[in-house]
Amino acid sequence: MNDAVVSPPPPGTEGGPRVLLEVFGCQMNKLDGELVAGALRKGGYDFTDADEQADVVLMVTCSIRDQAEHRVHSHLGELAKLKASRPDMVLGVLGCMASREGGDLLKRWPALDFVAGTRDFPSVSRLVDEVRADRTRIVAVDGDPRVSETRDLAVRPHKARAFITVARGCDKPCTYCVVPRTRGEEVSRSKRDILEEARALVDDGVREITLLGQTVNAWGRHEGSSLGELLYALQDLSGLDRVRFTTSHPEEMDEPLIDAMADCPKAGMFLHLPPQSGSSRMLRRMARGYTAERYREIVQQLRARIPGVELAGDIIVGFPGETDEDFELTAQLMRDVRFSQAFLFRYSPRPGTPAWGRLEDDVPDALKRERLATLMALQSSIQEARHTAMHGTRHQVLVEGRSRRDERRLFGRNLASDRIVFEGDPSLVDELVELEIVDSTPLTLVGRQLAAAASGSASRAASATSTSSAD
Ligand code: SAH
Ligand code: SF4
Ligand code: F3S
Repeated sequence: MNDAVVSPPPPGTEGGPRVLLEVFGCQMNKLDGELVAGALRKGGYDFTDADEQADVVLMVTCSIRDQAEHRVHSHLGELAKLKASRPDMVLGVLGCMASREGGDLLKRWPALDFVAGTRDFPSVSRLVDEVRADRTRIVAVDGDPRVSETRDLAVRPHKARAFITVARGCDKPCTYCVVPRTRGEEVSRSKRDILEEARALVDDGVREITLLGQTVNAWGRHEGSSLGELLYALQDLSGLDRVRFTTSHPEEMDEPLIDAMADCPKAGMFLHLPPQSGSSRMLRRMARGYTAERYREIVQQLRARIPGVELAGDIIVGFPGETDEDFELTAQLMRDVRFSQAFLFRYSPRPGTPAWGRLEDDVPDALKRERLATLMALQSSIQEARHTAMHGTRHQVLVEGRSRRDERRLFGRNLASDRIVFEGDPSLVDELVELEIVDSTPLTLVGRQLAAAASGSASRAASATSTSSAD
């Protein structure tokens, strides 16, 4: 068993063939996994979280770094052995690896029955039927760019939280990135569709919606609108307490979005805005479309308009040609911006990307590791200081579940997306509660419960006072 297995398994059709669904990668994959689960349930399938009980094993995969693909290949190796003793078992690879490698995956893994790309989720139930009936091997990687987003509310994993895809694919030219090749061109969904889905989710108990897109803040560009418009519309949706959206691209930040963030208390306290590097020379080689100076300007503008707004960022170290000087500029950007969360990666060359074969992967792995360790230590000290400065502040959190490390503790997130653990009754899961920060480590904030909060009062004031001291 590995941690990518969907557990507990979603409710299925009792007595149907049992599917083990494993989801790797980003939030989009989690949601796509949910759509697949819904389609399978409708198709008469049931679910399990144990290899030994599975009639069908499906992996929703990620290609972003070599390591992500490596995990799937080693798992396929184990499954191939299992299948040798149970030849009726069906094995399918879905998602980004399937889109990237297609039929090559079937050649490499004789035990694999089918692959289905990022736009072929709606057909997965039918593909499994076909394999089971005819034992054919299938490559399905040419689904319509306008993927059906029809979902089955019965398989939602969290009562109070849900993702909504607002745009699929990506049109950006980032030279290191495989996503435009795995997810294809960018297609925004209509505002009407999104709001209908949001309404149905809220009627089903959802209090927090996360809008997903690879460049979510480019939503609606082609139709002349802005994500800001969607935030205003969701702000008005009764019963909904919070709106998150991820991931934003610095080049796509516009005034209407910043205005909407400033005006919409449900949505405005957190932005995932990856800089990737603090060196304009590197950003040019990455084809990110902005300079480090422009990135800093956006941050200043956001902080001036939205006091207490917190930023998360992704950084790649060891991109081709990165010198000590470039690296130092990135460290300086991190010291200046003081991200509340940072996702730090070593550059991993990906076949088919613009950098592949053109920009030599010339930073030695040992140096990449050293730079990564330096930034991790830097981020840890930034978080330690920030967390310490938060002691005594109050936060309203939406409780997400039990802490994995300590069963007695629950955890939740405030509007600024800080994860806070506290001791509380499990019945508080999916509820809003008021906490006071009483302790912390660089990684964890520990809170004490004050009193249950009234729903619907997403309090920006509480969040603003709680975080401004850390800036
Ligand atoms: N659409 C998002 C990012 C999606 S991928 C955006 O544009 O910000 C998530 C993160 O993985 C990226 O932000 C980047 O930091 C990292 N990443 C992407 N390709 C990578 C590669 N080839 N090597 C290392 N990290 C990579
Ligand atoms: Fe990849 Fe760039 Fe698109 Fe993000 S914006 S998914 S990093 S190509
Ligand atoms: Fe990975 Fe595909 Fe998401 S490559 S990060 S699963 S879009």
